[in-house]
Amino acid sequence: MEHILDMYEKGEPFYLYTGRGPSSDSLHLGHLVPFQFTQWLQRVFNAPLVIQLTDDEKFYWKRYLTLQEASRLGFENSKDIIACGFDVSKTFIFRDTDYIQHLYPTVNKIARVVTCNKAVGTFGFSDSDHIGKYGFPAIQAAPAFSSCFPQIFAGREDVQCLIPCAIDQDPYFRMTRDIAPTLGWKKPALIHSRFFPALQGPKTKMSASSAESAIYVTDTPEQIAHKIKTYAFSGGQETKELHEELGGNCDMDVSYQYLTFFLHDDAKLEWIRQEYTAGRMMTSQIKQHLIDTIVPMVLDFQKSRARVTDDIVESFMAVREIKPF
Ligand code: TRP
Repeated sequence: MEHILDMYEKGEPFYLYTGRGPSSDSLHLGHLVPFQFTQWLQRVFNAPLVIQLTDDEKFYWKRYLTLQEASRLGFENSKDIIACGFDVSKTFIFRDTDYIQHLYPTVNKIARVVTCNKAVGTFGFSDSDHIGKYGFPAIQAAPAFSSCFPQIFAGREDVQCLIPCAIDQDPYFRMTRDIAPTLGWKKPALIHSRFFPALQGPKTKMSASSAESAIYVTDTPEQIAHKIKTYAFSGGQETKELHEELGGNCDMDVSYQYLTFFLHDDAKLEWIRQEYTAGRMMTSQIKQHLIDTIVPMVLDFQKSRARVTDDIVESFMAVREIKPF
């Protein structure tokens, strides 16, 4: 990341690469975090962005999904992604099954330098896993190299890449960084977003298939308030008296944790942390701060999501020339 910033200051541009595995129709707040952050990076650096939709990956990993359904979900999920505010003149979204011919030369080169041994060590595959899984990491690695996008980079293979992603994607990009020098390419830089917990507590994972664990981007203000009040794990004390005496624990408090992601006013966040930790702010109050933060954000998101038509998705997905810088 530091290297990227130094290069940028010297006028050497970079591109952004992120992605999504389309396995469900409904995105939750945790899914939005890397995309909101990527959108911010695109805006601040005016950088071109490629977004990979791994319909192949989800077909390989989810027994219940047909390939056709995974591709459809990829198309639908694009609408949520686009609603985060990406600039169509700088953003290329692709599904693997549509774009594979352009990735394939780069995938080949990667596949030849990653052994099964390495894949097992990195991803934990077993002998009984099907071979699709063994091949897939090369497909997720490929877009980290500008050779995949001749229509954007005019055949340049050495444009530096920055990958904003959630921490669970790290194994793919460790592998990618490992093999880059072997192939004479630049290692991609990475910036991870912190783990986004489920409502049930700081060590639980939001699941798109468990309605109580997640706030969906389609939830109404009433549903959001209800979920936060009912399920958001509290770092507060059992009784008001105890809370005033001992104070709340922000490390355990899901409402506080969510505020660290979505409340942009750092001074207010710090004030909330101090008041809650000191026991002057009650659990119901910190939850209300969270509701007041998230509801307008989700309503804004829904407004821009409603404007994203199929035609707009097609325009992001068209294989076209993009002026990179
Ligand atoms: N494997 C990711 C997922 O399941 C999708 C993905 C593909 C991705 N390429 C990426 C995520 C690059 C972040 C960055 O969601």
